[in-house]
Amino acid sequence: MWTQTRLTALLGIDLPIVQGPFGGGYSTPALAAAVSNAGALGSLGAANLGPDEILAVVRDIAGRTARPFNINLWVPIPGEDDASIEQSRFDRTVARIAPFLEAAGLPLPTFPIPKAIAFEAQVEALLAACPPVFSFVMGVPDRAILEAARGRGIKTIGTATTVDEAVAIEAAGADAVVASGSDAGGHRGSFLRPVEASLVGTFSLVPQMAKAVRIPVIAAGGVATGAGVAAALTLGADAVQIGTAFLAAPESGAPAAHKALLGTDRARWTRLTRVFSGRFARGIENALMNTLTSDDALPYPMHNALMMPLRRAAAKAGKLDWLALWAGQNAASARLLPAAEIVRLLAEETDDVLAADRLRPRSPA
Ligand SMILES: Cc1cc2nc3c(=O)[nH]c(=O)nc-3n(C[C@H](O)[C@H](O)[C@H](O)COP(=O)(O)O)c2cc1C
Repeated sequence: MWTQTRLTALLGIDLPIVQGPFGGGYSTPALAAAVSNAGALGSLGAANLGPDEILAVVRDIAGRTARPFNINLWVPIPGEDDASIEQSRFDRTVARIAPFLEAAGLPLPTFPIPKAIAFEAQVEALLAACPPVFSFVMGVPDRAILEAARGRGIKTIGTATTVDEAVAIEAAGADAVVASGSDAGGHRGSFLRPVEASLVGTFSLVPQMAKAVRIPVIAAGGVATGAGVAAALTLGADAVQIGTAFLAAPESGAPAAHKALLGTDRARWTRLTRVFSGRFARGIENALMNTLTSDDALPYPMHNALMMPLRRAAAKAGKLDWLALWAGQNAASARLLPAAEIVRLLAEETDDVLAADRLRPRSPA
């Protein structure tokens, strides 16, 4: 039966489906719990949360579901926080975004910008909160962190955009790995080679990764329906991780204007851009993406902090022109349904596809 895989056995879940974690407030305890209660694995992206907030969300989700769930963190890229920016480069970027800030009635930022939350403090809180699953992206945490997680019974899942990254994640001792194809929505998590040199589509990445590592592989990027689930499993995946299709659920924290675009023809046009955060991420084209270029962006996390007020104002006003419309290449297939209904439909469709014998090769005539 397709529902029983090495990943479902590892995590103790009913279906080989993971709701992708969303950073930046897009995932919510309600979404994670709804997905977990429906038999899949709910996730919450905690990259932008401080230690106390991490403790609080884990308590919150645990109060809503008795099933396993996942908390996700971004591993910092060494030296990234300290990258010094010249005043002239800062001024140039501010001049490029000034028309958008002025239109939103926001003040121009002054140099320098506050730093990101310390990863070590986030990890300490996560280990103390002890969620059933800890997934990470953008790198590999120190072996000691993964061992501490294991000691507490927390299962760990890394995120790889290339086969080499998956091999490094397995060598570090993670329990499973996400094969994040370049089709996926949100930020690219490449950490061994630059993002531009690590763009492998899900269909190509999954079979190669499944061959290269022994730990379970979770296919991410472009899966939105049961046919996609069946395809990923056929390619050798042990499960799928679905982001954009769950972003459309009423339980997600995405702005209403963003959700309303998912499942429409306009959602066919996604691109990778650095203009919102300083790191490459995939989203639906809009005026801000088409006016600024990735060269206008400062490095992460400085650029992310610089753009945050505009993104917040855009979310509040429902202003599509300025929003970061994160979405994967199959966003047009998303369905604006409650999370539990999405899980139910995915399972039913996967059953249908696999039972219909459509995936079996035809015997020679
Ligand atoms: C809005 C948004 C935020 C995301 N944030 C994170 C994150 O913080 N950590 C992470 O590992 N993946 C993140 N992702 C990736 C998803 O978890 C998932 O792997 C991806 O969306 C799968 O591709 P799909 O969008 O085509 O389904 C994000 C995706 C989106 C759309």
